[in-house]
Amino acid sequence: MNAAVVVVLGTGGTIAGAAASAQDNVGYTAGQLSVQQLVAAVPALGMLSLECEQVANIDSKDMSHAVWQRLAQRCAFHLARSEVAGIVVTHGTDTLEETAYFLHRVLAPTKPVVLTAAMRPATSLQADGPQNLLDAVSVARAAGARGVVAVLGGRVFGGSELRKVHTYRLDAFDAGDAGPLAVIEEGCLRMFRAWPEGTAFGIDTIARESSLWPRVELLIGHAGVTGALVDLLVASGVQGIAVAGVGNGHLASEFETALRRAQAAGVSVLCASRCAFGAVLVAAGVDEATALPSAGTLSPAQARIELLLRGLVGAHAPA
Ligand code: SIN
Repeated sequence: MNAAVVVVLGTGGTIAGAAASAQDNVGYTAGQLSVQQLVAAVPALGMLSLECEQVANIDSKDMSHAVWQRLAQRCAFHLARSEVAGIVVTHGTDTLEETAYFLHRVLAPTKPVVLTAAMRPATSLQADGPQNLLDAVSVARAAGARGVVAVLGGRVFGGSELRKVHTYRLDAFDAGDAGPLAVIEEGCLRMFRAWPEGTAFGIDTIARESSLWPRVELLIGHAGVTGALVDLLVASGVQGIAVAGVGNGHLASEFETALRRAQAAGVSVLCASRCAFGAVLVAAGVDEATALPSAGTLSPAQARIELLLRGLVGAHAPA
């Protein structure tokens, strides 16, 4: 038996959710069971060296910067312990991709930080949480594993690539064009690509009281969009605006003009696409120095996190 410790940090979600009836996979309350209860429900985990810690117990639609800060700090603390092989984070599916990207950009750890979740509550006739948790612990203990990843439905996704793509189905996640990093089959990894690497902003970046973090909002482009919301945000003191443009990050003229006004007023802007797949590509001949900045492969929600972290470090953000 491997003596290395895996720390399981609970944050809530459907994986810890409970419904009045075992047939109800929609009308449940997320974040009802403790992380200790989730682990106890998987007998195979009883033979392993696990530590459980409850960081929060919330529905992930209510995920906040304060919980992100605490979660990242607890991850950093445990990752620094030599006896810890890796960390598992139980989480809701709704904002899983945001937490994964946040942890990836803050920590870029050399040990594995494995997020997992479930589409059905723990009380369901066929709950998916226990298998996902078992798989996540297997990945956290795997030789050579590193970086922020997510394990769902037997697939391992890079923390910077993960997307929730379905509202209800069990296989609700994918990784866009990148595809999964690996599959986990009966506890064994079959790798398709290398573990995630990256340049982290570092845990000190988020040390400041979270209520003092920059205000970064997310706007979406659509037919008939105007610049009114942009102007309102600027007037209210916003520091960053991430944008979900249409198609290849395209912005309607009025919307773009307002965003340029915002930029000229000192607001950081980053333009992603509302398309589910693909990157925002800069057309040949476009002067990148004068174009509104492209978020590249980042989703709109990831672009918001990027602006938030850049705002926390000022002009000295890593690329
Ligand atoms: C949540 O995100 O906390 C609720 C939904 C889910 O976990 O599937």
